[in-house]
Amino acid sequence: MTTKHGIVVLDFGGQYTQLIARRIREQEVFSAILPCTATLDEIRALEPVGIVLSGGPSSVYDTGAPLCDPNVLQLGLPVLGICYGMQWMAHSLGGKVERADRREYGPAELGIREESPLFNGLPRQLKVWESHGDHVVGLPAGFHIAGRTENAIAAVENPAKKFYGVEFHPEVNHTDRGTEILRNFVFEICGAKQNWNRAGFIAATVDAIRRQTEGARAICALSGGVDSAVAAALVHRAVGDRLTNIFVDTGLLRRNEFQDTLELLRDRLALNVIGVNASERFLARLAGVTDPEEKRKRIGAEFISVFADEAMKLVSASQNLPIKFLVQGTLYPDVIESVSVKGPSAVIKSHHNVGGLPDDVPFELIEPLRDLFKDEVRLIGRELGLPQEILVKHPFPGPGLAVRLLGEVTRERLETLRGADAVVVEEIRRADLYERVWQAFAVLLPVQSVGVMGDGRSYGYTIAVRVVDSLDAMTADWSRLPREVLERISARIVNEVPGVNRVVYDISSKPPSTIEWE
Ligand code: XMP
Repeated sequence: MTTKHGIVVLDFGGQYTQLIARRIREQEVFSAILPCTATLDEIRALEPVGIVLSGGPSSVYDTGAPLCDPNVLQLGLPVLGICYGMQWMAHSLGGKVERADRREYGPAELGIREESPLFNGLPRQLKVWESHGDHVVGLPAGFHIAGRTENAIAAVENPAKKFYGVEFHPEVNHTDRGTEILRNFVFEICGAKQNWNRAGFIAATVDAIRRQTEGARAICALSGGVDSAVAAALVHRAVGDRLTNIFVDTGLLRRNEFQDTLELLRDRLALNVIGVNASERFLARLAGVTDPEEKRKRIGAEFISVFADEAMKLVSASQNLPIKFLVQGTLYPDVIESVSVKGPSAVIKSHHNVGGLPDDVPFELIEPLRDLFKDEVRLIGRELGLPQEILVKHPFPGPGLAVRLLGEVTRERLETLRGADAVVVEEIRRADLYERVWQAFAVLLPVQSVGVMGDGRSYGYTIAVRVVDSLDAMTADWSRLPREVLERISARIVNEVPGVNRVVYDISSKPPSTIEWE
């Protein structure tokens, strides 16, 4: 079990870069994403058996187009260039790339012309997914055409050097047999071995944590979500009760969430958890605040302060076995976001975790999930025996209901939102949709409108219902819920939640909207 001897994906800023790495990992072969500006030493450090050059939005002739060190092509490793990656490879080796008369977006028919190791075992005609404006028109020495679409050279190869290029995206589901194309590259061409699997990951990680933490204690902030629970369970397996977990009730959680989750973590996972009720502190800090970013910042700061207080109490109580480590559920997408060619992406919303602890809290970080994608984390959690309720739980933002309640956060408004939110989740579960949708929740709007209840006029608040489908929260679409489910949600909310007389369904996609309202 190792992060060596896998495939390195060099990122030119393409929207599917992460997907390439995931598809390769699904084959039980490790794959790391490095920015295209990675040095040869950084690449060599991973001892890869092959390289994939990702797609990207630029044209190789643009000023400022992302570039790799051309010596990447001299490492003696097989290379697969996808879209921009193919164009960059062709251009660097003396071929010619041109802006196409007709841009190709979406499906195209690929005709495979040659016996190519990349297309071994596949039909001669495949439906593929393209998304490019440029194409290769002149091949570098040693290359020949392996496949065409109606408008372009769609696959090239230099088998002697094991260089391959495709204009389309084998990593997306819309490309027929795309996984087999990647498998051919990974196994037949690169000769990769399957050394990336769950049991191996758990054993190796537990072993490494055990060695790292000998003679010391660790603490972990649990959020109630899957990432921190899996991180804690892994570390618990390594160090047992030398791990203490802290679970903070911010007063901004869903109905019954704190108590239910605390019991689950303690009773079912046997974790050593300290539950801290800090709702008064959070509400006081939020009094009078309506600006969404200000809410997020204050909650983040308060969280860190509560956590630091608890951590310091534990530190002074455990002098003989010092607390040296802080466990975090950081995932691979968080890690690569900060190294991507695009640079740290623009701050749309400030997300928070406990990374902003003050310097006088002297902990080393343990981030056992930093090489994993979310779906891999769920599988590891399953292997570790985590309860299904946690594994399938919808994501919940750190700032909690405060960002689902537009305007000031008050105890009364939180109660209204909790009531409506509970109806949404109950009805989604009742319709057997909970595990099919990405998230389902209610948002309380600061808008009052006229209604009629019984024989009287009402002037009540509006609840927006937000239910989305998504694979990774980067993009999302509103769920096409059955009318009966919408109807039940609406009827129950206006009947059961005092002060609400109107329910609307949010039909915006992300982008341009976001999943949360603030
Ligand atoms: P947006 O609203 O940006 O959210 O489309 C994308 C995903 O992230 C979750 N989210 C957060 N998660 N801390 C978190 O841990 C946060 O501050 C935060 N804000 C949003 C959101 O629920 C969605 O799944």
